[in-house]
Amino acid sequence: MPFPKDFVWAASAASYQIEGAVGQDGAGLSVWDTFCTKPGAILTGDDGSVACDHYHRYKEDVAIMKQMGLKAYRLSISWPRVLPDGTGKPNEKGLAFYDALIDELIAAGIEPYVTLFHWDYPQQLFLKDGWLNPKSSDWFAEYTKLIIERLSDRVKNWITLNEPQCFVGLGHMDGLHAPGLKLAMPDALVVAHNVLLAHGKAVRTIREHAKQTPTVGYAPVAVIHTPATDSPGDIEACKKAMFTVSEATWKEIGNDIQSSLFRNNTWWMDPIFLGHYPQNALAAYGDNMCAYSQTDMDIISEKVDFLGLNSYFGPRSKLHEDGNIQNLPDPTGHVHTTMDWPRNPDILYWGPKFFYERYNVPIVITENGMANMDWVHFDGQVHDPQRIDYIRRHLLRLRDTIDDGVDVRGYFYWSIMDNFEWWHGYSQRFGLVFTDYETLKRIPKDSAKWYSQVIASNGESLDKA
Ligand code: GCO
Repeated sequence: MPFPKDFVWAASAASYQIEGAVGQDGAGLSVWDTFCTKPGAILTGDDGSVACDHYHRYKEDVAIMKQMGLKAYRLSISWPRVLPDGTGKPNEKGLAFYDALIDELIAAGIEPYVTLFHWDYPQQLFLKDGWLNPKSSDWFAEYTKLIIERLSDRVKNWITLNEPQCFVGLGHMDGLHAPGLKLAMPDALVVAHNVLLAHGKAVRTIREHAKQTPTVGYAPVAVIHTPATDSPGDIEACKKAMFTVSEATWKEIGNDIQSSLFRNNTWWMDPIFLGHYPQNALAAYGDNMCAYSQTDMDIISEKVDFLGLNSYFGPRSKLHEDGNIQNLPDPTGHVHTTMDWPRNPDILYWGPKFFYERYNVPIVITENGMANMDWVHFDGQVHDPQRIDYIRRHLLRLRDTIDDGVDVRGYFYWSIMDNFEWWHGYSQRFGLVFTDYETLKRIPKDSAKWYSQVIASNGESLDKA
C-alpha cells in the first residue's frame, strides 16, 4: 500500500543547532551559550555562535528545502532571541527574524511546524532557578503567548517541548547538557513536574490565542524496544520495558533510579495523554516525588492532537525464561552510526504501534535519522549511501505499521542540514545537506536528492532497487 495521501514528508532542525548569530540584534543568551564556555563541556570545544549561520542564510536554506520538495519543515524558536530576559520586553528584531522565516517557508509551499522549546533556555531565567522555580511554567506560558500572537496567523502546527527527558536528564541530572546541573532525584522530579506543567499551560495558551484552529503536538524521546520474535511473550516483554517504571524493570534493562527517569516513556507521556502519573513509577520514586494537585494534572492533560516520536535506535528484547526482559546484545560486527547508535529499523514499526495502542492519538515521527562519516568527495559531491539505506529501511517499516492501521501522519528526517550536535559539537553529521563550517557553503547530499524522489512519489520509489 502507498503512504496516505496527505502524508507529511519533512525534515527538522532546531534554533541553537543552526542559527548562530548569538547575541545579535538584541538577542539574550541561552544556557547553551554559557554552557559551551565551560572548559571540556563540548567534546570539540565548539559553540553555537556561528553554527550554520542560518539566521543570515535562511533564504538559501529554504530555497534548498523547496528544491527538495519538502512538504513541511520543523523549526524551533530561540526563547531568549525573542525575550532576552525570558519574560518582559520582547526583542522586535528577534521576532522579525521568525516572521521572515515563516513567510519564506510559506512562499515556498512548505508548512512550518514550530517547536516552542528545543533546549535554548534563557540564561536570565536560569539565574532565577530556571525550571526549579515555581513560576517557571508561567514564564513558559508568557513566552508561548507572545509567539502565538505573533505567528499563529500563518503557523498552524505547534510542538510544545522537544525531548524533555534529555533536557531534564542530560541537562539537570547528568550535567552533560546545558545547564550542566547534577540535581538529586527530588529536585529533578520538581523540574520534571514544572516542565510538564509548562507543556500543559502552553497547550492552553495556544488554544486560547491561536488565530486559526491549531494542531498541537509534543515531541518526547520515544524509548522503543523491538521484539526479537513475533511471539506474544516477546511482544509483551517489550511493552513492559517501554511502559513500566519499577525498580525491577529498570534493573532488568540496565538502568538505575536516576537514569530510569530519562530513559522512560510513561513518566513523560501518561500525565499528558492519560491524565495521571504512572502508578508503578510513583511507587518506585516514593518520597522523592514532590507534592502536586489534581489541578496540575488537569492542566498537564490538556488535549494534544498528536504525539511526536523522536527515535533513532532501540534494543531488540525478548522474554527470558525466568520471566524477565532481556535486551539482546548486538551481533558481532552489527552496524552502528558514527554516534555509535545501533541500527534497528524495526523501531519505526513497533514504536508507533505500541504508542498508538497505549495513547490512541495520531503519531508523527518528529525525528529519525543518522550521523554518518560524510565528506565532500573528489567530484565535489557528498555521497552518503548509508543514510539513504538507513532512511529507506526505516520508512519501509513505518509503512508496514501504517498498513497495519496505525495512524502515522508524517515523517521528519533529522536533520535538514549538518549542525551543532550538542556536546558532540560539529563532529557528527546528521544532515541531508552538508554544511562546510569554514565557508558555510551548503551542499545537498545524495540523500537529499534521493529523499526528493521519495517525496515526489509519495513513498512509492522506496520499492525500487
Ligand atoms: C534531540 C534532538 C536533536 C539532536 C538529534 C540527534 O532532539 O536529541 O532533538 O537536537 O540533534 O536527536 O542527536
